[in-house]
Amino acid sequence: MSNSLFRTKQISKIIADAEAGAGSSHATSLSRVLSVRDLTFFGIAAIIGAGSFSSMGSAVASGGPGVIFLFIMCGIACGFTAMCYAEFASRIPVAGSAYTYAYASFGEMIAWIIGWALLMEYSIGNIYVAFAWSDYCTNLLESMGVGLPAYLTTNYKAAHAAFADNATGVTLEAWNNAPIVAGLRIIFDMPALIINILITWLVYRGVKESRNVSNVMVIIKLAVVLLVIVVGAFYIDPENWNPINDVGVKSFLPNGFAGVMAGVSAVFFAYIGFDAVSTMAEESKNPQRDLPRGMIYSLVICTVAYILLTLVLTGMAHYKQLDVGDPLAEVFKIKNIKWMEVFVSICAVAAMTSVMLVFQLGQPRIWMSMSRDGLLPRQFQKIHPKYKTPSFATIVTGLVVGVPILFTDEKFVLDFTSIGTLFAFVLVCGGVLLIPRKEKQAGKFHLPYINAKFIYPLIILGALISLYILYPVYFQSLFEFNLTSAESEAAKAGVMMPTPEKNQEALDVALTAKRTLNISTIIFWLTCLVLSILAFIKNLSLIPLMGLSTCLYLLTGMSASNWKWFFAWFGIGLLIYFLYGYRKSKLANGS
Ligand code: ALA
Repeated sequence: MSNSLFRTKQISKIIADAEAGAGSSHATSLSRVLSVRDLTFFGIAAIIGAGSFSSMGSAVASGGPGVIFLFIMCGIACGFTAMCYAEFASRIPVAGSAYTYAYASFGEMIAWIIGWALLMEYSIGNIYVAFAWSDYCTNLLESMGVGLPAYLTTNYKAAHAAFADNATGVTLEAWNNAPIVAGLRIIFDMPALIINILITWLVYRGVKESRNVSNVMVIIKLAVVLLVIVVGAFYIDPENWNPINDVGVKSFLPNGFAGVMAGVSAVFFAYIGFDAVSTMAEESKNPQRDLPRGMIYSLVICTVAYILLTLVLTGMAHYKQLDVGDPLAEVFKIKNIKWMEVFVSICAVAAMTSVMLVFQLGQPRIWMSMSRDGLLPRQFQKIHPKYKTPSFATIVTGLVVGVPILFTDEKFVLDFTSIGTLFAFVLVCGGVLLIPRKEKQAGKFHLPYINAKFIYPLIILGALISLYILYPVYFQSLFEFNLTSAESEAAKAGVMMPTPEKNQEALDVALTAKRTLNISTIIFWLTCLVLSILAFIKNLSLIPLMGLSTCLYLLTGMSASNWKWFFAWFGIGLLIYFLYGYRKSKLANGS
């Protein structure tokens, strides 16, 4: 059994199967229309969206200006990972992204798990984008004098939480004013649902049409990000880069490094998407050359944009003022620049539409690959005879995004997406370490091999020594499993309307967060030690090793509840695999 769980699919077979699938009849082939410019645009279309227009606000509110470090770290982690994706994409130029790559390196069970994790990235991620899209759209409509009732712009979970917590504001208004049908309050985010239906329809109609819409939107979003940076730069007050925190101390990191790491889901989310390029392999003209370029170009452009954007935003306003769903519009509201506020909101709507488009294009293509391997029913590879798109899988994606919009909230889907995607990235980098090295071939991307034998252990040792020198209590605090009095004070100072219960609740949350961070950081360093030994013994390649380590480090920022949900998701995925894919797999049945 253990052998069959790790049965791998030969790269030559993956390519042959994809070609057979594409060539068996006219009706089953996808159109090869995408150039390197289209792919770079696709990458940017997927990357810049709700992360920069929305979740960046919550990251800055917890980490302060110091969140810039997190943007740099995530940029580096994604850069290494993109190189690994690029290496796989140049060897296996078929749709399916990390799923296909894992099938060739780790074997079937892990491939299935990655496919399952990618569902979190593409479909669950789109739920967050739809919510953020709805926030900006609702504000825009309001500024034009079209007000929608709160119960049609709020998700049920948030409204219920507002009621349970005795909160005030729009979410409570949604709960109080909602019509009741058969004892149930009718509260749902209507704009989020509508945009999902529209996107599903567009993707169903075909990649060419979708590409045209997407390219226009990318130009719009790059222009607006640039404009925010340029106009915003004139309103920077350097005092904001050294803000005063809840307990009256001025610091670039007002909530310490733990505050910065608390923003990891929000910041990492802003980078997700470069890998979506790899799902377009079967629609690109020269996938082996263009896919890697498209991924890397788009990532570099976005990383530079994010770093500048973070500097400008945190320079324009006090970090706590940015704890809103539309921080890029909010900074201009604070500075009373109405035209920018409205302009940014309009562009945000366009930007997030293009993210949804790319993700909703990517998901069905991953399912198509899984179905070709027999791990999902045959309908998932059905291609529409006229539109040449995976029609059934596209509709299922629409449902997987649309239905949870009725039940979930932003925070949950944001965390869930980021942990699942990081997990997939870890496996992609690990997968590159497992595949045999190849000769350099002209015209194809080639991941440079740098022997990590000495370099990697030295990097780890260097990091540990630097931490000890720069932050002497680091190792001691790593093994402290209770709150210090300063941490307790900081936790209580953050409570809005203090009562003994609320204070206790804040202390419990801070304690769980500290313990989770400590345990995951200890596991991280132990893993680095093991990797150092392996690098030394096996002469591993440095780039994938750095990708693996940096992604693992980002995982240390995940909360206890993120891990709980992640493992539950993981368990359900395994169950489905054993009930269906394990038996139906084409590899298992010898075809
Ligand atoms: N990176 C994508 C966004 O920010 C998911 O919307």
